[in-house]
Amino acid sequence: MSDHLTVVNHPLVQHKLTLMREKSTSTAVFRQLLREISHLLAYEVTRDLPMTTTNIDTPLVEMDAPTLKGKKLALISILRAGNGLLDGVMDLIPSARVGFVGLYRDEETLKPVQYYYKVPAELNSRVVIAVDPMLATGNSSAAAIDLLKQSGATDIRFLCLLASPEGVALMKDRHPDVPIITAALDERLNEKGYILPGLGDAGDRMFGTK
Ligand code: URA
Repeated sequence: MSDHLTVVNHPLVQHKLTLMREKSTSTAVFRQLLREISHLLAYEVTRDLPMTTTNIDTPLVEMDAPTLKGKKLALISILRAGNGLLDGVMDLIPSARVGFVGLYRDEETLKPVQYYYKVPAELNSRVVIAVDPMLATGNSSAAAIDLLKQSGATDIRFLCLLASPEGVALMKDRHPDVPIITAALDERLNEKGYILPGLGDAGDRMFGTK
């Protein structure tokens, strides 16, 4: 992947996203829509995966049939909202290895602090797809990518549902080699770091918390 930002401007993605933005959408419907939309985003983020062929026997003949090349992918969920996107991506890539990165913001330094980190072995030889629905300030996303690179990852893609211009700019500055795939690029952040027009707190909306 080379372009730094891809907005998946597909009618189904945009329609489902509008339903998710609507504040009256229930937790159950929000979750279902997120799962559906993540299938469509997963399709896009895996579009250029390297391929090889495997010799198989169909009921009629032998053929060299296309298969994915190389090691299994690694999906990395940035907790906690990342888990909502993760489920749908795993539906499409059930054999992928899965990791989790947990970060919280230190209220004094305002810097992301790691509280959980567990990722698959040999990240250096895997295509790594980091998932987090909201690319807002970009601080925690960029910090999560720092950790993945420290673990050896070299081919990383960042998959989100909504991105802010501020978050995209920060990621481009800190990780120009990491392409971002998103369903929409929204207008801006508000003073509390929420994406506008956005959809609110993605974790709260998918888990029914407040
Ligand atoms: N995280 C969210 O869940 N929503 C935002 O708008 C920004 C960050």
